[in-house]
This record gives sequence, C-alpha cells and structure tokens, in this order.
Amino acid sequence: MTESNNQKQSSGKLWGGRFAEQTAASVEAFTESISYDWRLYRHDIMGSKAHARMLAKQGLIDDKERDAIIAGLTEIEQEISEGRFTFRAELEDIHMNIEKALTDKIGAAGEKLHTARSRNDQVALDIRLYLRDECAALNHLLTEVQKGFTRLARTNLGAVMPGYTHLQRAQPVLLSHHLLAYVEMFGRDRERIADGLKRINIMPLGSAALAGTGLPIDREFVAEELGFPAVTANSMDTTADRDFAMELLFCLTTIQLHLSRMAEEFVLWSSKEFDFIKIGDKYCTGSSIMPQKKNPDIPELIRGKAGRVTGSLVSLLMTVKGLPLTYNRDLQEDKEPLFDALDTVKASLSITAELLANSDFDTERMKAATYGGFMTATDIADYLVKKNMPFRQAHGVVGHIVALCQERDIELIELRLDELQQFSDLIEEDIFNVLSVEGSVNSRVSIGGTAEIRVAEALERAEQQLGIV
Ligand code: ARG
Repeated sequence: MTESNNQKQSSGKLWGGRFAEQTAASVEAFTESISYDWRLYRHDIMGSKAHARMLAKQGLIDDKERDAIIAGLTEIEQEISEGRFTFRAELEDIHMNIEKALTDKIGAAGEKLHTARSRNDQVALDIRLYLRDECAALNHLLTEVQKGFTRLARTNLGAVMPGYTHLQRAQPVLLSHHLLAYVEMFGRDRERIADGLKRINIMPLGSAALAGTGLPIDREFVAEELGFPAVTANSMDTTADRDFAMELLFCLTTIQLHLSRMAEEFVLWSSKEFDFIKIGDKYCTGSSIMPQKKNPDIPELIRGKAGRVTGSLVSLLMTVKGLPLTYNRDLQEDKEPLFDALDTVKASLSITAELLANSDFDTERMKAATYGGFMTATDIADYLVKKNMPFRQAHGVVGHIVALCQERDIELIELRLDELQQFSDLIEEDIFNVLSVEGSVNSRVSIGGTAEIRVAEALERAEQQLGIV
C-alpha cells in the first residue's frame, strides 16, 4: 500500500481505494444522506442479517463469520435505538455507517458482508421493508379515523341536515349519511394502499449494482427470510425502479386531500355562519389579539398540509422523469419527500381521530338549516312523476311553485292544498308527506340513498367491518 492509500483508508471511506485525494468537505456535506436516511437503520440491519444467513448457506462465508456479523449488527441496532451511536456524514449514508461500525467491531468478517451486494439493491430493499411497515401503520390510522366517523354516525343517527351542491342547500340528508361518506373515502384509501403494497412487497436484493452477480447467491432464500412472496425479475429495472414509492405518495396525497375536504367542512361548520359543530376547547386555539376568538387551527393545518404532501408526490415524479437506467444518485432524493409525506399524513390522521372524538354536532341548528332554500322541491317533482307526469314537465311546474313561495317569502310546506292544486290537478292531500324534511329524506330508499333504513344498514355494515360492537 502506498502512503496516499494509507491516508485514504484513514478517512474511513469504504470506496476509497481508487482515489488519490480526500473528498472535499463541501462534497461530503452536499452528498450525505445520513441526516435523514438513518431512520432506515432497523430495516437495513434486518436486510443485512438475512443477506448474511444466505451468504453462509451458500458457503460464501462460514458459520462463525455469519454469527459474528449477526451479533455485531444486533449490538449496532441496540446502540442506535438507545442513541449511543455516532453517525458520520463522511460515511454518507446509513448503509456505510452501519457497515463501517460492524467492521470496526468484528474485524475481517464485517468486510465480507457486502459480498454479492451493492448499495443500489440494498437501498431498494431498505425502502421496501420500511414502506411495508409504514403501510401497516397507515392502515391502522385510517381504520381509527373510519371508526371515529362511524361512532359519530351512530350517535347522531336520525339527525337531518342540508345536503349541499355548489355549497348551496340542495336536498335534505341525514348527518350520518354525510359522515359515512368519509368512511367510504378512507376505505378506498386503505384499499389503494393494500394494492400498492403488492408492488412494494417484492424482494430486490441480488440485483447487485445493476446486472446481477456471478456469485452463487440464493435470492429466494432471502425473500423467504424477510417474508417477501416474490423476488424482482430484472436487475436493471430493480435498481432503477421507484414506482412503488411514487404510488404510495399518490395514496398519501389522496388521503391528505380527503382529510382536507373534511377539514374544510369543520372550518365552515364551526363558524357562526353555520354553527353546526362545536370543537372541544382542547382542540382549538385562541387569538393573541382578539379575546373572543376560538379558532379551528387543527382542521386549517390539516387542510394546509395537503399542499405539502402533494408537493412531495410531484417532487418524486420529477426526480424520476428522464432518468436513464439504472441507478443514478438523483434517486437518493426519493427519501425526504417520502418521509415527510408519511410523517405529515400519519400526524394528520392521528389528530383527526382525536378531533372526531372531541367534536359535537348541534343537530337542532342543522335541522333548522333544512328550512329555507326549498330543499324539498325535487320531491314534489318526483311526486308528480309517480303520477305519470314527464319529469321535465314536473320540473317546470315545481319551478313555478318555488317562484310563488319566493314572491310571498314562505316555505313550500306553508302552501295550502288548494294553492298547490292550482299548479297541477295531480296534486292531492298526500303531497304533504313529501314536503316535510323527514318525508323527503326517508323517501330516498335507492341503494346508497339517504333514507334512514338505508343509512342504518350502511352503518351496521361499517360497524361490522371495523369491528365496532
Ligand atoms: N444513499 C444512496 C441512496 O439513497 C444509497 C445508494 C448509493 N449508491 C451509489 N451507487 N452511490 O440512493
């Protein structure tokens, strides 16, 4: 070894061999990822242990070396989780920080761990393992939010409110129907994640740098050790692929967008203008200047964070755009948006579950809001259709009825039978059944409709699926 070679070794770089000069400090600072990828440490170690067991089974290392590697990695994991490990930026990333610590600890056997492996397939493995756990956490949190909505739907079953289109009062609905709409949305989010997980849950290790390896490895063994149902099919695709992360970011964005719609309704509904909902004091904040204020900052922040999560998705999409095969260092930029989106969505889901448990609806106010706005107008049209009037014609008749009410500043229900009959001789006494808000709601018995019998069925289904007894 020449003297300069010795110097390089002392800088600790695991790839230092072909370099005559030490890396510039600015380059180390610019290229490091350890400041954020350290959080992959458990998964990196899990992957390395499985790799070591495979190397021993294949005779690429002996059993003593395998055991030393596994024991060393266990110690390192302990040190990191207890905060006793010093991460070094000059070692770039989590993979090299751990490998260097292992070699310092156990000597020559540590240097054999990277046999038949590259950081390119190693990082792909780590992210897949990490995301697999995150998918389980997301599924749990989504379920908690679904349960929150379902409980509110049960408590308030029977309460009516205006249903809106264009944020204009449209037709009366049950509050529980509105709440169960969110259970559906978050149910689809869970399905999407479960589907994305199929593509995350494929074992990439053994693709090596990009072309596979000539060493006699056993990829299926590693997959089995780590609980993957399959191994990836093409080593070049594997080291270049981040589709699975893009997909999960899309799922995360959709969740946050769903949350933002709920948040917007909470903001509106807690305003004096609506006054439909009271958010518990513990979940509101005050104003530093206006003593009377009680602000819905939690839903506002949930709504605001939708921009940030969408930004993370776009960030990774743009990172991958135009990248030639296979691995390029650009791909290191996958982690921060992924981690930030996961943290943001998990925190938002978790606080949403709390918010739901600490909010009360003013069902009297909601009911009062169903008067005014002629919300049962469609019901009169449907009434006439049932008596054989073509719908377009019925629409016109009801339009005239509404105009009369507007002129006299009264509600549809305040019209007398003889007044109504002037518009059509098909109108009889039973018209008043459909003019009431409850009558209107309960007439909508179509599958997925807002009639109480349908909503009660939907509620039971949700409770059953979510294991609420
Ligand atoms: N820190 C790198 C990343 O996150 C690990 C892979 C590095 N591979 C390489 N050939 N430099 O992408």
